Amino acid sequence: MSVSAPVISMRGKTALITGAGAGIGRGISEAFGALGARIIGAEIDPQRAADTQAALREAGIEAEIHVCDVRETAQVKALVADIGARIGGIDTLVNNVGDSIGEFMHPFDRAEEQFWDALYAINLRHVFTVSQAALPLLRQRAPGATIINVSSIEAFRAIPMCPVYSAFKAAITGFTKSLALILGPEGIRVNTIAPETTETEQVKPSLYIKPELQQNVARWTPLGRFGEPRDMAGCAVFLATELSSWVTGTTVHADGGALAAAGFYRTPSGAWTNTPIVTGDGFGFS
Ligand SMILES: NC(=O)c1ccc[n+]([C@@H]2O[C@H](COP(=O)([O-])OP(=O)(O)OC[C@H]3O[C@@H](n4cnc5c(N)ncnc54)[C@H](O)[C@@H]3O)[C@@H](O)[C@H]2O)c1
Repeated sequence: MSVSAPVISMRGKTALITGAGAGIGRGISEAFGALGARIIGAEIDPQRAADTQAALREAGIEAEIHVCDVRETAQVKALVADIGARIGGIDTLVNNVGDSIGEFMHPFDRAEEQFWDALYAINLRHVFTVSQAALPLLRQRAPGATIINVSSIEAFRAIPMCPVYSAFKAAITGFTKSLALILGPEGIRVNTIAPETTETEQVKPSLYIKPELQQNVARWTPLGRFGEPRDMAGCAVFLATELSSWVTGTTVHADGGALAAAGFYRTPSGAWTNTPIVTGDGFGFS
């Protein structure tokens, strides 16, 4: 009897990853690179771009991290044109850039429309513009090319202080489903990863939560910890490779079980409750 299993390799593949210089984008870049992919990053911060490029190359990964603001369509088009001319097709696009840009400090009833425009630009608009710009290069690698968007658990669960951020993250769900229908017949899959709180440069639960409340972290999610970039990277490897060859138009909730728990937490003795028992203010935002 002969048996076969998918081979997890990205050798010969090219990935374009936005926000590759830190956090989840960097974690995905490292994982794809370790599996043999050529990494092309689009990163707004020159220092992060240089540091990440150096670290990936030192690890033997073929990597170029370009300074590029994905909110600026002209910069995106120039980068994609450059990739097309020098390298050719793109196998995987990861639309990772996103930021709540401190919406909790701009209460909805007093927020200015310009602030909502800024949230739109950093969380949603570039998902459209980068996907559209990259499509001709993805088509060169179809069938088998993939788009992976990064949204948030807040696309599926409320967040009291960030209604506009969560609205744009929820919009990524609809975009993912509908674009998957358009591109499916060409063999381009479109999926999303929705993380729960993950330790990155942008989100630092290890710093936010007061020392006396750190004991609650183990009870915050069913899996007993916050996320790490490597957790999202694992999902991205799944969605970028043959492992997910029949998966499109959907979202992987990388959330330690938080959505499933839906408000249930463990008490200090380990029992489950949906009655608030935590004293203090969690992340310390209030
Ligand atoms: N960390 C979390 O807890 C968490 C939870 C849910 C969703 N997310 C989502 O995951 C994604 C990544 O988040 P993260 O926590 O890794 O963020 P991060 O800020 O740690 O890393 C994002 C990277 O993108 C870069 N960047 C920012 N604006 C850019 C732009 N206009 N053009 C190009 N690069 C830009 C930053 O310089 C940074 O290097 C975001 O979409 C975020 O909304 C994160």
